[in-house]
Amino acid sequence: MVMATAAHRLAYAAVRMPATFAAACAVFTELRRLMPETRITSLLDLGAGPGTASWAAMEVFDEVQQLTLVEQDKEWIRMGKSLARTADNIVLAHADWIQANVRGVASFPTHDLVVSSYALGEIAPKVAREIVQAAWTAARTAMVIIEPGTMRGFALMRLLRDDLIALGGQVIAPCPHQDACPMSTNDWCHFAQRSARSALHRRLKSGTLGYEDEKFSYIVASKHLSQPVNARVLRHPLRHAGHTRLRLCAGDGLQTITVTRSDKEHWQRARKIAWGDQWP
Ligand SMILES: C[S@@+](CC[C@H](N)C(=O)[O-])C[C@H]1O[C@@H](n2cnc3c(N)ncnc32)[C@H](O)[C@@H]1O
Repeated sequence: MVMATAAHRLAYAAVRMPATFAAACAVFTELRRLMPETRITSLLDLGAGPGTASWAAMEVFDEVQQLTLVEQDKEWIRMGKSLARTADNIVLAHADWIQANVRGVASFPTHDLVVSSYALGEIAPKVAREIVQAAWTAARTAMVIIEPGTMRGFALMRLLRDDLIALGGQVIAPCPHQDACPMSTNDWCHFAQRSARSALHRRLKSGTLGYEDEKFSYIVASKHLSQPVNARVLRHPLRHAGHTRLRLCAGDGLQTITVTRSDKEHWQRARKIAWGDQWP
């Protein structure tokens, strides 16, 4: 996204950054949940903008010691550095910022985790795939990609998922398997993360609600084999008095299940489960 003026960048920081931060926190939390023993001590953030994904990583991985942020726009870097100075966090404050265009970069420095959040969608898919290939080589442990939860965002995610699997990665989230994605071409796999709106945010958007739901698509690919989730909830559960309907992506494809009150083993879980959660 071209942020031509300081006003554009400030608007992004006030209005979009809280939502992309919330999405990144949700994805990193899922990575931590699925790989609880894995320590992430270094992070490479590609298309960092003001550093949103790096801020989110610091919320989830308190063991991070080294942050490298790559961003093409020097004004974003200036703003990112100035924001980082306000953080009570020495790693953020001492992060390495590299001004570079990630297109055509043959190799990136190795880090435990490589993330690209809301950036690859701004690049032609063919080039985004080359970037992911180089980024995957630089990832010691895992790679995370986050894009808007739109048909377009998911179309890119589907391509990159296939590439990462072909490169030997294991997609540990959101997918419960490594087979071809079963989503039909007129649907898209996406999730939602709620974040609070500040008074400034509400004013800038002329919004009345005190929150908003950010829709996002994502992939977490691991270099190490781990147990896949059994199934994942793909829509808001439909809750009724005596039953809950769940749309799932499972090891054997898409399915809709109905959990009834009489199913003692699963009923309590079905009452509480949310869109994006692992089932059962
Ligand atoms: C929508 S912003 C996302 C910022 C941040 N990652 C987030 O999640 O909020 C996209 C960022 O990617 C950067 N970007 C896009 N293409 C790039 C490229 N080829 N090389 C480096 N940065 C790029 C843009 O300059 C912009 O800062």
